[in-house]
Amino acid sequence: MTTGRVRKAIFPAAGLGTRFLPVTKAQPKEMLPLVDKPTIQYGVEEAIASGIEEVIMVTGGGKRAIVDHFDRSLELEHYLRLRGRDDLLEILKQVDVLSDRVRIVYTQQKEPLGLGHAVWTASKLVEGEACAVLLADDVILGDAEPCLKQLIDAHRKTGATVLAVRRFPRSQVGRYGVVVTDGSDGRLHNVTAMVEKPKPGTEPSDLAILGRYVLAPAVFNELERGTPGAGSEIQLTDAIMRTVGTHPVVGLEFEGDYYDTGTVPGYLRANLTLAMRREGLREELTPLLRELLGE
Ligand code: UTP
Repeated sequence: MTTGRVRKAIFPAAGLGTRFLPVTKAQPKEMLPLVDKPTIQYGVEEAIASGIEEVIMVTGGGKRAIVDHFDRSLELEHYLRLRGRDDLLEILKQVDVLSDRVRIVYTQQKEPLGLGHAVWTASKLVEGEACAVLLADDVILGDAEPCLKQLIDAHRKTGATVLAVRRFPRSQVGRYGVVVTDGSDGRLHNVTAMVEKPKPGTEPSDLAILGRYVLAPAVFNELERGTPGAGSEIQLTDAIMRTVGTHPVVGLEFEGDYYDTGTVPGYLRANLTLAMRREGLREELTPLLRELLGE
């Protein structure tokens, strides 16, 4: 059982983003903004606030914008300095300091063969440790401790693989992976199985798995064993499932505001909600929303 620290976090970001076509034809969906910040930046900030020391980005073709975003833009800085725009330079600095606070390394998933394959691609950089996985689509904000920190604390206490879970009404939970549990200790649920997108009426619980994980080394061993080659790659949930029985797996009902930005309606909802929470934008948008609603 590992009860050590979690130093590394994998960000799988090599998917095709087909639900957002055509905007994702030449642009990674992880770079789509929530108000004025790309979704992946929220995840990186959460990882840093959770004590992560190394971010492993799994990128694929056409994802150059992610690398550039976390790099300095000396040209842009130069022009802003010439124009005396210290206010904008300060905004750039807030991004630049992220790569000072965490080491960001990149690895290439040569073909988009699924999430399990993307995590497996990063596994050679994990070096046998427990490691976090964050899906940038799932943005989790709020006043509570960062979601990933809550998972890491649960891992430290239990040594288990930890999945972020949230209760949904039965009518909605089938859109997600759903856990089967055989006991709970407060917000921590002992996981015995997982069902991917269960059919209506067959949901084993109302606890959906969202995009934050702390994976014990055993899961990486399963990914390794199950990935003989392209086309027969193992799913991440299958790899986790194979460790149940020999290694503990728990679901943590985390605290925080969850935004699903992976679908167009969810993305628009998240943008609207965050814009309405921002001073300055709220005042501009409120009359427009009233007008649109015919109030
Ligand atoms: P999603 O299924 O949400 O992303 O995968 P997608 O495949 O890019 O989007 P759609 O379904 O076509 O609209 C969850 C995460 O896993 C990454 C994605 O980039 C996303 O962050 N992923 C997915 C990979 O890194 N590689 C893959 O082969 C598939």
